[in-house]
Amino acid sequence: MKSIIDFQKYKQNGIPISMVTCYDYWSASIINSTAIDAVLVGDSVAMVMHGYKDTIAADIRMMALHIAAVHKGLSDKILIADFPFLAHRKGKKFALDAVEIFMKQGANAIKIEGSGSVTNLIRYIVDSGIPVMGHIGLTPQSINLLGGFQLQGSSKESAERILTDAKKLEDAGCFAIVLEKIPSNLAKRITKSLSIPTIGIGAGKYTSGQILVLQDLLGLTMNFNPKYLRKYLNGIELIAKALNSYNADVKKRNFPSSKESY
Ligand code: KIV
Repeated sequence: MKSIIDFQKYKQNGIPISMVTCYDYWSASIINSTAIDAVLVGDSVAMVMHGYKDTIAADIRMMALHIAAVHKGLSDKILIADFPFLAHRKGKKFALDAVEIFMKQGANAIKIEGSGSVTNLIRYIVDSGIPVMGHIGLTPQSINLLGGFQLQGSSKESAERILTDAKKLEDAGCFAIVLEKIPSNLAKRITKSLSIPTIGIGAGKYTSGQILVLQDLLGLTMNFNPKYLRKYLNGIELIAKALNSYNADVKKRNFPSSKESY
């Protein structure tokens, strides 16, 4: 994908959009060499890279550092950056300052969690020339209100609310919406009723695209096995095996060899 405009083109042409999260330079360089369409510097960085139990600890400074690192590894992919906890709740000036920092570090678009009153800010950011991706369903920044990372939209009432929120986000000017952890039939209804694409995580196969956390799909996340996750690599096992081989070689003085010495 060359630009945000392609999101719309992909939806119109029925081409699924593939996205992964990315937080650092070296994995960005690898993703850059693949056919993956776009990259999200998610606030999940707080959990995956910094070891926090949720995304609340992510802030502007943490996000900006990771955006800059990822940007250096990408030459050919769209970089979307997550607005961290409360950054969109501290007034327009705070939000626009954060947007400015993110865009100057290399973001092409911003992702904002939630709907309702946040739609006014989204409209304002979009009017300022910055593409915004919405994010509804399970919104991890509201984890303390939601009471956990559980499925959203399973009752008729909450399903209708999520559908209404999706329409509000489209009206506010979002170019795409992440649907996290909702029933697949609800995601299908939402995707059909919007002209902008939906990107699912734990939302079934009827969304316009999919996103997974890079370390989850590579099997690099310990003790994380939600139903929606498909692991494309047994990363932990492979890496541990390589490290143990190196360790054994060092202990046996098998490394370095004369070829590996000066
Ligand atoms: O922060 C993140 O990784 C996300 C994705 C799960 C969509 O928001």
